Amino acid sequence: MKPKLVHIVAMDQNRCIGIGDNLPWYLPSDLEWFKAQTTGKTSIVGRKTYEGLPKSVQNDVKRTFIVCSRGPQGNDLTEVSNFPLPHPTTSQEVVMIIGGAEVYEHTLHLVDELIITQVKLEVDGDKFYPPFDDRFVLKDFSPWHVENDIVFRFTRWVRA
Ligand SMILES: NC(=O)c1ccc[n+]([C@@H]2O[C@H](COP(=O)([O-])OP(=O)(O)OC[C@H]3O[C@@H](n4cnc5c(N)ncnc54)[C@H](OP(=O)(O)O)[C@@H]3O)[C@@H](O)[C@H]2O)c1
Repeated sequence: MKPKLVHIVAMDQNRCIGIGDNLPWYLPSDLEWFKAQTTGKTSIVGRKTYEGLPKSVQNDVKRTFIVCSRGPQGNDLTEVSNFPLPHPTTSQEVVMIIGGAEVYEHTLHLVDELIITQVKLEVDGDKFYPPFDDRFVLKDFSPWHVENDIVFRFTRWVRA
């Protein structure tokens, strides 16, 4: 059965998601949210984002990563719909796509749902999420939260 594919991403008001190899903000609640949404699931990730994850996350036995790379050991993203899943289930499996920018860009046309943390900032970054709101509609959203003087909320978008 085809898994449900979900992007999970945090972006600013201009869809900025990164500066160099780093996140533009430090939001512990968003990292907890990311953990809760991805633990126990398979995650598809670009090689650069994977290398930036803490070792504790890379080696977490409750997660499975499919790392995309054009190198000899990598998974070719054009085959994403056919990736063999390590934990087939009888119900529809959810596979999270966790970035970064290049991987989001190459898979936006395939995903069923977006889990977006909207961060009320305009950062001077260089990695961006592609335009999406002509193809997805806002379905659910949390109240706005404040942490480290940063205002943000969690949202879920589905195909229009
Ligand atoms: N705000 C957020 O929620 C969030 C989430 C994740 C990441 N980020 C940010 O995003 C940035 C990293 O993104 P990025 O675009 O530089 O790197 P990336 O998407 O994490 O990884 C890019 C790498 O993935 C591989 N790849 C890309 N397209 C492929 C394809 N079609 N087939 C096979 N392999 C493919 C290539 O690996 P090889 O070079 O090995 O061939 C490529 O160099 C960082 O700033 C990070 O902090 C933000």
